[in-house]
Amino acid sequence: MKLPINVTVNGETWPLDVEPNEILLDVLRNRVGAKGAKIGCERGDCGTCTILLDGRSVRSCLMLAVEADGHEITTIEGIPDNGVLSALQDLFISHNSFQCGFCAPGIVLGAHELLRDNPNPSRYDVQHALAGNLCRCTGYEPIIDAVLEAAGEDRS
Ligand code: FES
Ligand code: FES
Repeated sequence: MKLPINVTVNGETWPLDVEPNEILLDVLRNRVGAKGAKIGCERGDCGTCTILLDGRSVRSCLMLAVEADGHEITTIEGIPDNGVLSALQDLFISHNSFQCGFCAPGIVLGAHELLRDNPNPSRYDVQHALAGNLCRCTGYEPIIDAVLEAAGEDRS
C-alpha cells in the first residue's frame, strides 16, 4: 500500500505516493530526478547521499521517504542560484578540491551548513564538520582550504 507524502525539493513541491519502505535517497534520485545525491555505501558511512532536511544535513540513505513528509529538502542541485555556482563552489574548483567528484555533493552541502551556522570556523571545526564525508581522491586538505577561504571571504 502506497502512502501519500508532500516534500519540497529545492523549492518545488512534490506530491508523491511512496511505499512504506522506500528510501528517501531512491525517491529523490528516481522520482524527483535529483541525482546529485549519490548512492555510496547505503549504510550511513560515506556521506555522499547527504541532503539538507529543513536545513540540517542528513544521510538520505538512512531515511525513509515517508519520514520526509512535510519537510523541505535541499540537494546539491539547489545550491547554485539560477545556475550560478556559490562562492564556496567556485573555491572548491579553484582549489582543485575534487577529482572524481563522487563525494562532492555531500561535502558541498555539509560545508554550506557549517558556514551558515559558524561563519568563522577553525581548521578543526571544518575537519569535525566534514568528518563523516569520505573522499578517496584528494586527501581532504584542498577541501578544507577551500572552506576556510570561503569563511575568510564571508568575514570581510
Ligand atoms: S550512501 Fe548514504 S552514507 Fe553512504
Ligand atoms: S573527489 Fe573522488 S571521492 Fe572525493
